[in-house]
Amino acid sequence: MSSEVIGREVKRRRTFAIISHPDAGKSTMTEALALHARMISEAGAVHGKGGRRSTVSDWMEMEKARGISVSSTALQFKYSASGDDDDFPHVINLVDTPGHSDFSEDTYRVLTAVDAAVMLIDAAKGLEPQTLKLFQVCRHRGIPVITVVNKWDRPGQTPLELIDEISDRIGLIPTPLYVPVGIAGDYRGLLDRRTGEYIKFTRTAGGAKIAPEDILDAETARATEGAAWIAAAEESELLGELGQDHDQEMFLAGQTSPMIFTSAMLNFGVRQLLEALVEFAPPPRGRVAIDESTREVTDPFSAVVFKVQAGMDSSHRDRLAYMRIVSGEFERGMVVNHAQTGKPFATKYAQAVFGRDRATVDTAFPGDVVGLVNAMALAPGDTLYLDPKVQFPPIPSFAPEHFSSLRVTTADKYKQFRKAIDQLDAEGVVQVLRNDLRGDASPVLAAVGPMQFEVVTARMKAEFNVDTIIEPLGYSLARRTDEASAPELTKQRGVEVFTRSDGAILALFSDKWRLQYIEKEHSDLVLEPLVAAA
Ligand code: G4P
Repeated sequence: MSSEVIGREVKRRRTFAIISHPDAGKSTMTEALALHARMISEAGAVHGKGGRRSTVSDWMEMEKARGISVSSTALQFKYSASGDDDDFPHVINLVDTPGHSDFSEDTYRVLTAVDAAVMLIDAAKGLEPQTLKLFQVCRHRGIPVITVVNKWDRPGQTPLELIDEISDRIGLIPTPLYVPVGIAGDYRGLLDRRTGEYIKFTRTAGGAKIAPEDILDAETARATEGAAWIAAAEESELLGELGQDHDQEMFLAGQTSPMIFTSAMLNFGVRQLLEALVEFAPPPRGRVAIDESTREVTDPFSAVVFKVQAGMDSSHRDRLAYMRIVSGEFERGMVVNHAQTGKPFATKYAQAVFGRDRATVDTAFPGDVVGLVNAMALAPGDTLYLDPKVQFPPIPSFAPEHFSSLRVTTADKYKQFRKAIDQLDAEGVVQVLRNDLRGDASPVLAAVGPMQFEVVTARMKAEFNVDTIIEPLGYSLARRTDEASAPELTKQRGVEVFTRSDGAILALFSDKWRLQYIEKEHSDLVLEPLVAAA
């Protein structure tokens, strides 16, 4: 395929993730986006669902209720933005971030696969712990962020309070594209700061349909909305005086964030979000390889594996690897090279990740996410390519802060236990550490968040029928060391040395004072920090 065609496909793609604290409305917004993209004709499958928390089940629920194809990893839809040729709409990839409140490396890896993020915050709650952590990851990776203040139909803070909170606490300057007309709890419409016009929304029954919009000029808006319009106009002017207008360069540099006020439940402001994604979020770009050359999007096929998962279909235990395409065109059936092993990998069973029925995917372009079946050899961070060879840098693993020993409780299950540990390790669920003292039967698991341990024991039981016990260890930080330093460290109180499955030698310390003391007393020892958790 010509690079001109690939270039055109790349230009119309946007690949993003929604980052939010649980309950801010990610599932509802996902559904609202699907409604606007006309993937579903009516919203409501996840509204008022009460109690359910994970986006995975929400998406599955949507799929069941509405017959649309979704999966736990990526949702792809076409969207004709204003000014688009309807025969050549934009292609939007919404990549799911794990929905639990515990930060995990998994989340970090998913964010390596996107070009932009939508930070969804609850108008009443403002910034919450998970939003902050996810935002730090975006900053670390240089991912531009669009801020969405959701639930504007409910009482909440004022726009200026929210703007101040974001600037003060995360140092990101919000540049509202629109100012809401009506305070939180009385959401009438939006003042478009670029045109000065009023976009007046009309509610639909149960928020099931796209909310009709009327565009009114400022004079008519003032006559119909009175004080609410005047307040919005004053806020807009003030923001202008403060210089908080959208600036594409500053947005791409991660210094400012276009801001939109929405009600995902009423479908207010959702079209504006899609338009902002199309207009401002960057299309897929080339990626820098280990040798510092750049693989451009129009170069031959290459992709990065960012997530590995045990087969969703419990009847056959295969492994799915999700790759984000970096360059070139992907065609199902292509035999590509696996940079880490140098071996060929046949993609006969590539599947569109949108589709629980595992619909096969025939072609895909940079920015798209494709699931590969039977991907036993693939691990997160791996590179797949067609000649010329390319290898992208590995996804850095985070500094673990939680350490537990894992023991199998039934002696005759030891073989299964080994297999399970190897699999969970390869998937990157936890880091696995071993030393001679503890032996193979009792490895130490290291994780960024303690919930990862629960995932391990639950999956051990469900997928391998192995009962295990997790015992927290009294260590709280790790440092990378080397063979020469290991004997001296082993002698120290409150320290234990391990080899991680990737070969790295790690020393665990009971607390930071212990570490500081040893660093002072033994300045010759190698003790390097791991990549810090966000
Ligand atoms: P999540 O995926 O981020 O966890 O959030 P989810 O979409 O499940 O939304 C969490 C709750 O917030 C849901 O309520 C949902 O209906 C509600 N919600 C989402 N967006 C909006 C919005 O724009 N306006 C209002 N008013 N509500 C919104 P729930 O689970 O049914 O029950 P409850 O928590 O409201 O009792």
